Amino acid sequence: MMKLQDTFGRKFPYIRLSITDVCNFKCTYCLPEGYKKNPGDTRSFMSAEEISRLTKALSELGVCKIRLTGGEPTVRKDFFDILKDMKQNSNIPKVTMTTNGYRLNKIAKQLYETGLDGINISIDTLNRETFKKLTGHDRLNEILEGINILQKLGFNNIKVNAVLLKGINDTHEEFEKFGNFIKNNKIDFRFIELMQTGDNLDYFKKNHVSSKIFKDYLKKNKWISQTFGKDAGPSLNFIHPEFEGKFGLIAPYSKGFCKTCNRLRITSRGDLRLCLFGNTGVSIRHLLQDDAQKDELVDLIIKQLHLKKESHYLELGETGITPNLSSTGG
Ligand code: 5AD
Ligand code: SF4
Repeated sequence: MMKLQDTFGRKFPYIRLSITDVCNFKCTYCLPEGYKKNPGDTRSFMSAEEISRLTKALSELGVCKIRLTGGEPTVRKDFFDILKDMKQNSNIPKVTMTTNGYRLNKIAKQLYETGLDGINISIDTLNRETFKKLTGHDRLNEILEGINILQKLGFNNIKVNAVLLKGINDTHEEFEKFGNFIKNNKIDFRFIELMQTGDNLDYFKKNHVSSKIFKDYLKKNKWISQTFGKDAGPSLNFIHPEFEGKFGLIAPYSKGFCKTCNRLRITSRGDLRLCLFGNTGVSIRHLLQDDAQKDELVDLIIKQLHLKKESHYLELGETGITPNLSSTGG
C-alpha cells in the first residue's frame, strides 16, 4: 500500500537515497576542487545497518523504487553489502543507482549479479580530452567498457546523463556524437539543464545554456517527443525510428516541473528532504538505531510528508540552497 501521499494528490513511490557525500571526481559544475569535508557537519554517514532499517521502513510505506546516489555511491567499501541487503532483505521491487562509473568495467558483473535493477551513468561528453578536463579523470574508456559489459550480460536499464554546458557539449557536433552512440545502442541519453546551486553561482552564469538548442536539434533531425507516462520521471523523451536508444531532456526550470514530482530524498546523514532545492527536512536518524523503532519511523516520515501540503518551504525555515549536488544526490 502506498502510504506516502500529499493532498495535491502526489504520490511518492520513489526515494533517492544518498549513502555518501564523497566523490572522487571533480566535475567543474559540482565539485571543482574535489570533495572536501564540511567542517560544520561532523555527523558520520549512515551505517549499512542504519540504511537497512531505513529500507525496511520505506518498504512498509509502499516505496517501490530506491535509487542509491552520492556523492559517488561506489566509493563506499560496503557498497555491495548495502545493495545486497536491499535486494535480499527488503521488499523494495526496484533498486537502482546513479554513478560516475569510474570503475564500472570492474564492477559491472557484480552489479548485475547482485540484482541491480537500473543504472544512471553520468557522461557529459564522449570526447576523451574534454571528459578528462571536466571530471579531472581520464576514465571515459573504462566507463564505456563497463556499459558494454553490462549490455553483454543482458542488463538493459541503462541511462546516461549529461549536464548541458555552454561551449562544452552544446554543439550540434556533440549532439551528433551522442546520437551515434545511441543509434544501435538501447540506451536513454538525457541532457540535464545546469542547475544553480549555492557553490556554483559564477559557473552557472557562465555555463548555463537553455535546452532550446538541443530541442531545435531534435526537431531538425526528426526526433519525436513522447508524452509523459503516468509514473514517468522528469525527463521528456524523444524517439526516432532509426535509433535504438532514446534522447531525453530534463529541464528543471521549466514550468510545471514540480507538478509531476514523485520523489523524496534522504541524505547520507539521514535527513529526510522534501525537495532538492532548499535545506528543508528533518533528521530521521534517531529512529534508525533499533529495529523496534520501525513504527515510529514510519509515522515520522508520513508526518513529514504532510508538512509538504501544509506549509511552504519558506515557513519551514529554509535557510538557503543546496551547496552542490554531491550533498543531496542530484
Ligand atoms: N546541475 C545539473 N546537474 C547536475 N549534476 C550534478 N550537479 C549538477 C548541476 N549543478 C548531475 C550529475 C549527475 C547527476 C547525479 O546530477 O551530472 O548526472
Ligand atoms: Fe561527483 Fe557526480 Fe558531482 Fe561529478 S557531478 S563531482 S561525479 S557527485
